[in-house]
Amino acid sequence: MQIAPRHFSSVQLRFMNIAVVTAGVADHATPLLILFVAEGETENTAEFGEVNQAISGQISAVLQKGDFRGREGQSVLLYPGEDALAAERLLLVGVGKRESLDAEKVRRAAGTAVKQALRVGVERATMILSGLRSESLGAAPVSRATAEGVTLGSYVFDELKTKQENNGTRKLGVIEILQTDGEDTDLLEEAVRLGRVVAEAENFARTLGNLPGNVATPAYLGQKAEEIASQFGMRATILGPAELREESMGALLAVSQGSDEEPRLIILEHQKGPAGSRPLLLVGKGLTFDSGGISIKPAQSMEEMKFDMCGGAAVLGAMRAIGELDIPINVIGVVPSSENLINGRAMKPGDVIKTHHGKTVEVVNTDAEGRLILADALSYIRRFNPAAIVDAATLTGACVIALGAHASAALGNDESLVEEIRQAGARAGQRVWPLPMFEEYRDQIKSEYADIKNSGGRPAGTITAAWFLREFVEETPWVHLDIAGTAYGDGKLPYLTKGSTGAPTRLFVEWVLARAG
Ligand code: BES
Ligand code: MN
Ligand code: ZN
Repeated sequence: MQIAPRHFSSVQLRFMNIAVVTAGVADHATPLLILFVAEGETENTAEFGEVNQAISGQISAVLQKGDFRGREGQSVLLYPGEDALAAERLLLVGVGKRESLDAEKVRRAAGTAVKQALRVGVERATMILSGLRSESLGAAPVSRATAEGVTLGSYVFDELKTKQENNGTRKLGVIEILQTDGEDTDLLEEAVRLGRVVAEAENFARTLGNLPGNVATPAYLGQKAEEIASQFGMRATILGPAELREESMGALLAVSQGSDEEPRLIILEHQKGPAGSRPLLLVGKGLTFDSGGISIKPAQSMEEMKFDMCGGAAVLGAMRAIGELDIPINVIGVVPSSENLINGRAMKPGDVIKTHHGKTVEVVNTDAEGRLILADALSYIRRFNPAAIVDAATLTGACVIALGAHASAALGNDESLVEEIRQAGARAGQRVWPLPMFEEYRDQIKSEYADIKNSGGRPAGTITAAWFLREFVEETPWVHLDIAGTAYGDGKLPYLTKGSTGAPTRLFVEWVLARAG
């Protein structure tokens, strides 16, 4: 009998409304007024001047003392007195030098602001965004990035606690964006909605990532995909063991045969582009727990291997946003999902398996399982005649050594697609950086006993893993993202919390939006 908290099936998303309101900065009644302040500007914006004047130069005084200078990450809370300002509290949030402002700095500043608002425990907070604008960053992109930072920054994962410690912080129900100088309200509201939808989808991906292996099983991910499909008018196809055998998906089956939990191949089709136009394919590794199999991992931090499905979670998150935004393009999300465990039937080092593609693989290391389940997914999707494929996978520890937490690795068979994805990542604030796929690296996966082997050893581990995947992609333009270092972490950025980051959900949506034009 499983006593796992399976009934935590809801993937609760806290609902926070973001409203664009028109009011005067000094006379708008609010529990918390938030003013973004650029570094080194004593006059800053008109709104800054107005608030500063209303409270007899208290902001100038704070800046003059030097304890708050408007640097990134800085903030200070003031209680100006209600006869001076209609707001009960005033929070100053630093954003750094105005000329270096970009969307990511805005997300971070909004994250800092919302975390302070949660800490103070207010039910509503009002933001003045003019301090975040620059010559290259207009009101709409600032509003979008603010909505993203606020939605991501207010994320809490406490569904599995009986006593929800964060109940206090859940009070914040609405963020107001104060519109001051006759901007187009519709435009701002549209930008806010875009940011909120993308960030909520990323929070959804985070929750899937944070849920443990006894809750977020392959079958559970399949159910979540079905829910997305019925909510947003997509077709869901979920293959279980019988269908996978029918399809000869030998690699996905081989990985799952060591576990009691059934595998799934999850396919979500969003067909909103011109009929017959070739779809974009998003593929994500959905390994719900990776023990390493017989090539078992060390016990230290093994619990983190519940995050081995974060690529799949990001695909589901992106599909959710693509559906909610109703982007007019054909996109198909695919998640091969399995556990990698150990029983009497588990695959053994040296086993040779036959993949869906037909190529045989010598399994020299059962811990190199992600490339096996992805191989079958990449082979299966050839039937969709994809225009381009992007996959995301927590694939190699080597990638964490190479790039750490500040960029995912990008590798592929098409340099212009790699560059396109790099740019989408830069815009989304989820950076990727290319690694080379020189032909010589492929030699490391040559096998004595089969067509190829599933590990090329330690040198260039991220690159040889990508070469393995490439065997199953053939000629379609394809980019592989190794997200082992970026999918989860210590939550040090202002809009992150410890655990799953939800990356690269934003990158996926950004890419699809750009392709849709
Ligand atoms: N899921 C792991 C990769 C991983 C490691 C992700 C650390 C996040 C943090 C993957 O399945 C794996 O075990 N890869 C092996 C491959 C090796 C055996 C060729 C690795 O990187 O050690
Ligand atoms: Mn592994
Ligand atoms: Zn793995």
